[in-house]
Amino acid sequence: MIGVGAFGRNHARVYKELEQQGEPLRLLGIVDQDVRRADAVGREFGCRSFGSLDQLLTTHSEVQAASVTVPTLHHLSVARKLIEAGVDVLIEKPLASTLAEADELLGMAKKHQRVAQVGHLERFNPAVRATIPFITQPMFFEVHRLSVFSPRALDVDVVLDLMIHDLDIVLSFVNSPVQEVRAVGLPILSGKTDIANVRLEFASGCVANLTASRVSTERIRKLRFFQPRQYISIDYGRQDVLVFTVGDSDATPSVNPQIGVVKPPIKSEEPLRAELRSFLDAVRQRSIPTVTLEDGRRALALALQIVDDIHRHGSRINLEKLASL
Ligand SMILES: NC(=O)c1ccc[n+]([C@@H]2O[C@H](COP(=O)([O-])OP(=O)(O)OC[C@H]3O[C@@H](n4cnc5c(N)ncnc54)[C@H](O)[C@@H]3O)[C@@H](O)[C@H]2O)c1
Repeated sequence: MIGVGAFGRNHARVYKELEQQGEPLRLLGIVDQDVRRADAVGREFGCRSFGSLDQLLTTHSEVQAASVTVPTLHHLSVARKLIEAGVDVLIEKPLASTLAEADELLGMAKKHQRVAQVGHLERFNPAVRATIPFITQPMFFEVHRLSVFSPRALDVDVVLDLMIHDLDIVLSFVNSPVQEVRAVGLPILSGKTDIANVRLEFASGCVANLTASRVSTERIRKLRFFQPRQYISIDYGRQDVLVFTVGDSDATPSVNPQIGVVKPPIKSEEPLRAELRSFLDAVRQRSIPTVTLEDGRRALALALQIVDDIHRHGSRINLEKLASL
């Protein structure tokens, strides 16, 4: 475990739980440049702690896999060291801060033949997994990810912090390139964009509207989409899915007798647990992970395009002057 701040501690907790539940793994060590934090988390989960990655690697040459949960700006430097030491990596999302960094990671993982996964957690949300068999031809998405303000992850804006989860899901559902991006965003509390809305149009004609906010008064994480004869609604937080189908006489009638609704059975699981189990499986089997570095790069490229469009829109409407009024 490299980096045990707000989110990295969760990785450590889940690895320890998996170890205690009999998964063939051993949580060897916790690294954090904040030594007191490393020590505290090491004590909490019964393993050694280190103030630097070099110390861990020289003490434990048997390290096989690691989670990289340092701030995004440091993903490349930390993952580079691990990959060069022959360690497989799970790198948190967003994969990197720039596409050049992402490309360097892709090149290194390939050169050193490492299993490398990106932490796009929602792919492992049981509700998302239950939806996949129903996907035919999505034509319109409406996505909301709203959270209350907390002073974390402020090194990136809301697009790279929150919206990127949904960008990755929409890209994985729509098998078509993005053709047009129209975005708007505003800084509210952090000095970076805290609330953003984007309209994406795909070559297939599919349109996706996404809103992400980290300054909301409520917490909402919903993705809804329409495809021929169907409307599908995912609540990431509740881990449930509703599938409405026109003319489905086997389903329970909904508000309209011609529209049947089905709630697919879902086996609830903490998405992080499913993600780490999947990463460990890929490490053991030397297989391609469920979320590849290419997927992480694709979501990052779109997120950066949205960030650019937000800045263009800000200049067009003279946002700086508006903000100073
Ligand atoms: N998948 C998700 O849903 C999700 C949620 C939250 C955060 N994240 C991602 O996880 C990563 C960490 O986010 P966070 O909110 O936990 O950040 P954080 O600032 O709370 O924690 C980062 C930790 O890394 C340590 N650190 C920094 N540089 C280091 C280095 N070179 N070596 C060792 N330790 C170092 C810091 O001391 C700190 O303890 C980010 O990439 C973020 O985007 C993902």
